[in-house]
Amino acid sequence: MYLSLIAAALADSSVRSLSQQEELPLLRDHLLRLDRTSRRDRFHGFMDDSFIERYAEKCANDGTTIIAFFENGEVRGAAELHPPDQSPDSLPEIAFSVESSVRRRGVGSILFRKLISEARAKGYKSLRITTGAQNDAMRALAAKFGAQLVFRHGESTGTIDLTKYDQADVARSWTESTVSGMRAVVAFNRAYRRMLLRMAGAAGPEWGAS
Ligand SMILES: CC(C)(COP(=O)(O)OP(=O)(O)OC[C@H]1O[C@@H](n2cnc3c(N)ncnc32)[C@H](O)[C@@H]1OP(=O)(O)O)[C@@H](O)C(=O)NCCC(=O)NCCS
Repeated sequence: MYLSLIAAALADSSVRSLSQQEELPLLRDHLLRLDRTSRRDRFHGFMDDSFIERYAEKCANDGTTIIAFFENGEVRGAAELHPPDQSPDSLPEIAFSVESSVRRRGVGSILFRKLISEARAKGYKSLRITTGAQNDAMRALAAKFGAQLVFRHGESTGTIDLTKYDQADVARSWTESTVSGMRAVVAFNRAYRRMLLRMAGAAGPEWGAS
């Protein structure tokens, strides 16, 4: 029991790009964990497992870059940077998904900043994002990074001008990752204290008093 408590206490998080070999299993499993509403928001209505499996396979083989947020070894969030040659006007498309268990903790924002660094490193000048008109979370996230969204054919679509981003933004990306690491440390300390209290309770008053 104490070992599992310690394992829970050692919960950690990190953000990095997936290698091509990792993309299929890790991206697929993350996307399959999305609930119905999230799948609808992410895939504009396509929700069945077989669609998601085919989608992850395509990403693994078409040069899509996946930046992943890991927690306890599982991918809980992903930012997708699709190659420009897949869109008619050669603008790289981007997309995001964060599992509901880790939402509104800044994961989407950390992924967005990493994606911008990655896109700039590839020499891209502009990115396109498309989301459902009712998707308040994605609209808020996109607006935070300067996307000008326009409502068209039931969707909101917009571009992000990467020439506006500079080294200061990259530095902020590092700070956010560090803050995320600090949150994990705080979580560790809390869990460790809880573990000690439980052990003290199980061992009786003498153990607790020592
Ligand atoms: C959109 C999504 C990626 C946001 O991820 P997240 O980790 O919760 O995002 P963050 O915590 O970084 O929040 C980013 C901003 O959006 C705001 N926000 C998040 N959820 C919101 C909501 N439901 N309503 C309004 N604003 C919201 C946050 O307040 C934050 O703004 P702030 O930094 O100024 O406070 C996540 O909700 C998701 O995966 N949704 C399902 C899939 C999807 O819709 N994908 C988009 C298709 S491309």
